[in-house]
Amino acid sequence: MRMVDIIANKRDGKELTKEEIEFFINGYTKGEIPDYQASALLMAIFFNDMTAQESANLTMAMVNSGDQIDLSAIEGVKVDKHSTGGVGDTTTLVLAPLVAALDIPVAKMSGRGLGHTGGTIDKLEALDGFHVELSQEDFVNLVNKDKLAVIGQSGNLTPADKLIYALRDVTATVNSIPLIASSIMSKKIAAGADAIVLDVKVGDGAFMKTEEDAVQLAKAMVEIGNNVGRRTMAIISSMEEPLGYAIGNANEVREAIDTLKGEGPEDLKELSLTLASQMAVASGKVQTTEEARELLEKVIADGSALEKFKAFVNNQGGNGSLVDQPEKLPTAKYNIDVLATASGYVDSIDAEQVGVAASILGAGRQTKEDEIDLAVGIILHKKVGDAVKEGDVLATLEANTEAVEDVVKKVQNSYHYGQDQKQTKLIKRIITA
Ligand code: URA
Ligand code: CA
Repeated sequence: MRMVDIIANKRDGKELTKEEIEFFINGYTKGEIPDYQASALLMAIFFNDMTAQESANLTMAMVNSGDQIDLSAIEGVKVDKHSTGGVGDTTTLVLAPLVAALDIPVAKMSGRGLGHTGGTIDKLEALDGFHVELSQEDFVNLVNKDKLAVIGQSGNLTPADKLIYALRDVTATVNSIPLIASSIMSKKIAAGADAIVLDVKVGDGAFMKTEEDAVQLAKAMVEIGNNVGRRTMAIISSMEEPLGYAIGNANEVREAIDTLKGEGPEDLKELSLTLASQMAVASGKVQTTEEARELLEKVIADGSALEKFKAFVNNQGGNGSLVDQPEKLPTAKYNIDVLATASGYVDSIDAEQVGVAASILGAGRQTKEDEIDLAVGIILHKKVGDAVKEGDVLATLEANTEAVEDVVKKVQNSYHYGQDQKQTKLIKRIITA
């Protein structure tokens, strides 16, 4: 087989065979296929798309390029969730204990944040002492005992994806639906998920700017999952504003605790319950999302979801008493109000800009080596649909410095106003096949 023929086939709109795709992935991972040939193929895929079969084969070839996590020692169907990247998105901290409280195993591999979106592990580290350096054996035992554990990224998972993603980044081929879909799905499958629930974000603050594109990406991923024997479903959710009120680390843990008590922001609660219901159905534990929803509301009301969260924090070295006293989580030195510079109804809040603003305060990292300040962040007081008068408090910066003029401006500029009150729809679609 020759790489040049594979490129020509894709250029001419032919469907690549499984063998051709494996030849490319294996050869490129080993360094035997040069970047210029890989680039040419990626661009041909960008223009000519891939069939469902090609996308499934590409995904599995990338899965097989490295290690796979074996979760077979955990009883039950292991369901994982993936979000395409939101700002202020604390849903993992809410839905993991919710789902575990229904006795469904949640064995999660999580990452740290880079850029303007925070990582789940960073947030959890606000619970003094919490760590994710577990042996594979401890990880499995904790999930079997309490149904919930989070482990850091380990092993050599999907090396082909890492290499190809870096190449796509510099060859203008990131924005291809089959390439994004196979990249995301390969990582979830390699991490051992039996079933996958996807949260595809749409809006100015998201990777997918239009609902049409988001639906296409969601369908591509659902099709890949189902084609390779992992039950997969997706929801399309709005990123026209950050999720909840808190953007940061310790403040998002507080918000997650509030939500587990049934006292959190409406949008965070709704998204968490929707995703958790889909996970419960995907696990086979319940038949319908209505039934799941009823059970989930119950574990919030009777406190067992919160207890589950506390046990999970204690199991992984954290200080579980902070769950009962969230005011003792790290707090910043200064609270600085951001005032509105115009009047009207809030029409949208540029989530990416708010994420960058929080990151400048120290809540995110610019490079992998940066240390995060867990105490800092932003609390929004006005959300889409709220009426605002010039001079009203839009948000509060939780900062460890008073030199925040540029951050204040950034938050002010991220608010957009209209004359009429806008109705938002958080969950736009659910895609199951
Ligand atoms: N996120 C991924 O993991 N892969 C992509 O290709 C795009 C976004
Ligand atoms: Ca939030």
